[in-house]
Amino acid sequence: MTTTRLHQLRCIGCGAVTSGEGMSAGFRCLQCGELFEVIYPGWALEGAGDGTQRPNAAGLRALWAERRLSTAMLDQSGVWRFRELLPFLDAPEHAVTLREGNTPLYAMPRCARRLGVEHLFAKHQGMNPTGSFKDTGMTAALSVAREKNYPWVACASTGNTSAAMAAYAARAGMRVLVLIPDGKVAWGKLAQSVDYGAVTCQLQTDFDGCVRVLAQIVEQAPVYLLNSVNPYRLEGQKTPAIEIAEQMGWQVPDHIVAPGGNLANAAALYKGFFEMKALGLTDRLPRISVIQADGANPLYTSLRQHKGERLEPVQAQTRATAIRIGNPASWRKTVRAIQETGGFCEQVSEQEIALAKAEIGAEGIGCEPASAVTFAGLKKLCAAGKVHPQETVVMILTGHTLKDPEYTIDFHRGTLLTEEENAAMQPGERAALRTLARAPIRLEPKVEAVLAQLEMAVRA
Ligand code: F0G
Repeated sequence: MTTTRLHQLRCIGCGAVTSGEGMSAGFRCLQCGELFEVIYPGWALEGAGDGTQRPNAAGLRALWAERRLSTAMLDQSGVWRFRELLPFLDAPEHAVTLREGNTPLYAMPRCARRLGVEHLFAKHQGMNPTGSFKDTGMTAALSVAREKNYPWVACASTGNTSAAMAAYAARAGMRVLVLIPDGKVAWGKLAQSVDYGAVTCQLQTDFDGCVRVLAQIVEQAPVYLLNSVNPYRLEGQKTPAIEIAEQMGWQVPDHIVAPGGNLANAAALYKGFFEMKALGLTDRLPRISVIQADGANPLYTSLRQHKGERLEPVQAQTRATAIRIGNPASWRKTVRAIQETGGFCEQVSEQEIALAKAEIGAEGIGCEPASAVTFAGLKKLCAAGKVHPQETVVMILTGHTLKDPEYTIDFHRGTLLTEEENAAMQPGERAALRTLARAPIRLEPKVEAVLAQLEMAVRA
């Protein structure tokens, strides 16, 4: 039997199940319009199915540990090392990999002190081959595209999905169509897309507008859609949950905090933790909380006003361009992740994001603005008593600091925020910002000039 037959796609709306053949090009259910998720009936996780293909937890842990010593590309991948939980390729040995995953779980002692929690970690998904968490999902879904012999892959993106897709497709010798919003994509990401050889179209609209155009393109052209509506993306993106558990000695942290944009990632992590628990690899679920920018907060509003039962799109505005998304595709999946785990949703301002990013940077870690919403949101959750001092908390840093150097330089030069934004800050925040800002200093090439700076810095 091929592994393809081990998995099925199930609609999260009406529960319709398909093998994946004959799936609509936009990955939406033809009956109810909702999205699909990958399920493995042979594991019998939710009662249904026969359970005959259910992997053995102790065996898996030993096998995965053994593979860490292997030099085979597939074993070195932090996604395919866990391939027993990703049985959807006919030939996993042909997966398209760049040795993704294997990302560090950093202790964040200074940020922890700032929050008043004892155990704060950052799972840095920016340490992936193209500098963002998208690589784990891309190796999975792009490998499916290649198995299905699609000549072209395509996505609409705020920049990271397109960078990841372009890289993996280039490795596989496939052609790439990228739709990105004109002017609202960080330089590092745009540079990657063109460098890896993608046909990169900057449309004069926002991310949501790019999604609308692409929805029609996939109906008319033989391109395989690699946005996160593609359920195989989430299979790859569930593996950081496995890595976190493994890195913590198969203990599950109390709380995972992730940024929210198109709202697939938090759902993917939930799926990873859910499956591990159901298979007996771990014994509980973490709370999963999601943080949005307050100018791109449709999930926050949905949960506040409609208990997450419906979502009203917004016109999104934030300098954290990665999450500048007003009409997120996977919102229902993420509502489930939050509600099933007792997590929270918070929103944070532009000032809070900027400050949090600088604080993460000052720990020698760094991340892109969209990732920093996690720490900004955590401050609020701690202040509201929703996170307790003894909890073990993991924030998911989704992108590398080098993705968006312009934002960082503007912050440190003091030109990022407007006068109104500066005026609206709390005095404590303004003081923290002044302490953190480190604009480069232009000097004459003279020893005294440099020594004077050193002295000033020591005194400060
Ligand atoms: N953080 C970063 C750095 C991102 O690039 C994204 C999404 C998110 C967080 C949000 O993740 O969409 O799963 O809720 N970027 C997408 C892109 C939309 O096109 O690169 P999400």
